[in-house]
Amino acid sequence: MELPAALRAAVDDALDGVPLADLQAASERLSARYRSETRDGRAHLSDDISARAYLAVRMPATYAAIRASLGAVAELRPDFSPKSLLDVGAGPATAVFAARDCWPGLSDATLIEQSPAIRRWGEMLLPRLVLGRSDWLAQNIATAPLPQGSHDLVMLAYVLDELVPAAHGALVDRLWAATADMLVIVEPGTPAGWSRILSVRDRLIASGAHLVAPCPHALTCPLSAPDWCHFSRRVARSRMHRRIKSADVPWEDEKFIYLAASRTSALPVAARVIAPVQVRGGTVSLKLCEQSGAARQHLLSKRDGDRFRQARRLAWGDCVGEPATMPADSAV
Ligand SMILES: C[S@@+](CC[C@H](N)C(=O)[O-])C[C@H]1O[C@@H](n2cnc3c(N)ncnc32)[C@H](O)[C@@H]1O
Repeated sequence: MELPAALRAAVDDALDGVPLADLQAASERLSARYRSETRDGRAHLSDDISARAYLAVRMPATYAAIRASLGAVAELRPDFSPKSLLDVGAGPATAVFAARDCWPGLSDATLIEQSPAIRRWGEMLLPRLVLGRSDWLAQNIATAPLPQGSHDLVMLAYVLDELVPAAHGALVDRLWAATADMLVIVEPGTPAGWSRILSVRDRLIASGAHLVAPCPHALTCPLSAPDWCHFSRRVARSRMHRRIKSADVPWEDEKFIYLAASRTSALPVAARVIAPVQVRGGTVSLKLCEQSGAARQHLLSKRDGDRFRQARRLAWGDCVGEPATMPADSAV
């Protein structure tokens, strides 16, 4: 997956003329802070060079993860066509670009971002979308109330990990209160990110939300440490990205976890593929989280006929629609 061409060109322009060594140093600082989930009271994107490094090395990956999460929502809620979006911790407006790519009818965006350095870039990039209305708010979402009113789609992407855990519950309650239909929260695909998503999941279920994706049920999550639920998207690296990271490989795999919850129920699914699909010789091995609340590994061979052929087409993160097509009797 790649950023849309116009956005990619705008990001290239933003990096034009910036010394490579400065971008490399800022990118390393950012990676270290994200990896260790540093919460020292300072914003990760506190200055212009950090913000530009984010555009180069993180925005393509967070865009890919958000876009994949929204694709899963669209698949199970074909009737959902949001007009308004509240993007909380918006950064350079990544979620708005991804949502508009998924739902071209999106016309109204409210973006909350406290860091002036990255907000400035978001304000410069967003006009490429030609929305009917966009409004940036410079607020601290851990303390300030959200703007009044509700929005068809509310997004919180790659933000919870930057907030102290004590602030999560109240923020999720405020986000849900601001949600007219769909709330989507995306986190890094680490055990810590999954654990935060599990807490959000419990809270939203208790508030009466319908889970849309990725979970095929609202029962207790069947996974336990050291296992964790996450997905992955392959992201193309631009030439500049490769130079900043001193990387030869023209792509990277972004691991992420998400939760989409709605006030309206979605199409039921029998299962979701929760690990890479292993195709070896004449067999397919699938790990499924199932509507029954169980997570099981399935092994299919050519003898399973259509179910084998269907399983071979599945990928990590896909949902399996009809219970009848699920490879249920070959669990191992
Ligand atoms: C990792 S970036 C994610 C940006 C964007 N959502 C994306 O997915 O690319 C997290 C963003 O949340 C913002 N943020 C973190 N804590 C915040 C707070 N308390 N109030 C408002 N924004 C905050 C940061 O400034 C940063 O821009």
